[in-house]
Amino acid sequence: MSLSICCLGAGYVGGPTMAMIAAKCPDIRVTVCDPNEKRIAAWNSDTLPVYEPGLQEVVESARGKNLFFSTDVKGAIKEASIIFVSVGTPTKTYGVGAGRAADLKYIESAARMIAEVAEGPKIIVEKSTIPVKTAEAMLTILRSNSKKGTFQVLSNPEFLAEGTAIEDLNHPDRVLIGGEQTPEGLAAIEEVVAIYARWIPRDRILTTNLWSSELSKLVANAFLAQRISSINSISALCEKTGADVDEVARAIGSDSRIGPKFLKASVGFGGSCFQKDVLNLVYLCGHFGLPEVAAYWDQVIQMNDWQKRRFAERILRALFNTVTGKRIAVLGFAFKKDTNDTRESAAIYVCQDLLQERANLSIYDPKVGAAQICKDLAIQADNPNVEFATSAQQAAAGAYALLILTEWDEFRELDFEAIYKSMLKPAWIFDGRNVLDHARLREIGFKVYSIGKQAAHEVVI
Ligand code: UDX
Ligand code: UDX
Repeated sequence: MSLSICCLGAGYVGGPTMAMIAAKCPDIRVTVCDPNEKRIAAWNSDTLPVYEPGLQEVVESARGKNLFFSTDVKGAIKEASIIFVSVGTPTKTYGVGAGRAADLKYIESAARMIAEVAEGPKIIVEKSTIPVKTAEAMLTILRSNSKKGTFQVLSNPEFLAEGTAIEDLNHPDRVLIGGEQTPEGLAAIEEVVAIYARWIPRDRILTTNLWSSELSKLVANAFLAQRISSINSISALCEKTGADVDEVARAIGSDSRIGPKFLKASVGFGGSCFQKDVLNLVYLCGHFGLPEVAAYWDQVIQMNDWQKRRFAERILRALFNTVTGKRIAVLGFAFKKDTNDTRESAAIYVCQDLLQERANLSIYDPKVGAAQICKDLAIQADNPNVEFATSAQQAAAGAYALLILTEWDEFRELDFEAIYKSMLKPAWIFDGRNVLDHARLREIGFKVYSIGKQAAHEVVI
């Protein structure tokens, strides 16, 4: 094989991205490594650890030929000339910057391990979302600890969205590669450009200096999150005035300067990136003495927190201000459809608020299992207030209310007549994703609350 590359971190980003590179470049040997044995075993099995439409096919087309999943991290580093780093970068939970700054301990330990085992020239490509100037820190660790290696560090942030990862990897709007603006840095950039150029038009591959690339990832996610918080703020105003937030979104989105995407009002955004990246931006601005800029972006998070809380409070109000002991069906737990990822899912917060009010929850998600849900809600599997259903119908039986928290396609197709019959009356539906046919549900007899659509006279105080 002409080239050997590896990736540290077999998660939602590392796994699909490397599988795509391997599928597109049969002459490149691609090894994805991770110390987590269960995860690697799953990547080598028929049940991948990540659910993503089309992923199984891409993995199977290359696995065992030029795509390998391994726990031998050191061996993979030794063999590869290009090392992608896609380890987790969660928000710090302790010490300086707790709750805002990124925890870079995994990035640092990756850099130290590379320094320890690398021999000869290596290109390190950061894929993990990290605050600006992490590449510089990695370079310092590598260059001051390695005896035999020489290094270039590039930033190549991933813009794929979960649920559409394969499509996004196949036809990205752009690929961004940042590096040191020295002859060696520019040569390293070209080596990585050459990989992507196998299937992506050159004019979609942007090259920049390191810091522009690192910052662009945070800013892209902050702008996207801001659009959702903006439309969600308007959803509350729509409910007061009787305007319909979907109509408003269509009306403003038809202006080509605004555009139609990311204007879907919801129970709140989730996922591993938006909150973390906006908080990183807030932290950076604070660090650099820009409190006004920090406060501006922080408001995007505050609006999202309020939207999640507001939804839970609306349920409480509708159910005569008490949900104690009442069965509530929760449909959807993933942070969006077509993924089994629950990180920062709005469902976690809504369920926790309802559990605080002592509701009995029956939860169903097509791709998220009971163990993950217990972990997210910080409850034991035998918690008497939470039940795990194997279908939407089962979750709804005997419930006072049904909540749509993830927009899974199957929820649109449910037999709502049968569900209505099986529920207690008045039977409520709270559509946190605005995906159901509300007029039809009202015909059946449901009371319906949807985000940003309540006519002023319908508002229940
Ligand atoms: C990760 C980062 O969190 C994100 O910021 C970045 O944009 C892309 O990479 P993701 O792939 O979604 O996102 O995270 P996750 O699914 O948690 O995968 C991280 C993997 O890294 C895990 O499998 C973990 O076991 C592995 N890991 C962690 C290492 O390989 N080495 C470590 O030292 C720590
Ligand atoms: C995001 C970015 O889109 C991607 O480019 C980056 O690489 C990682 O972060 P992801 O978090 O996987 O991707 O999903 P995304 O589709 O952006 O959705 C994030 C959250 O926003 C979800 O909870 C989704 O339901 C919500 N959302 C999205 C809305 O509430 N309304 C919208 O209009 C769009």
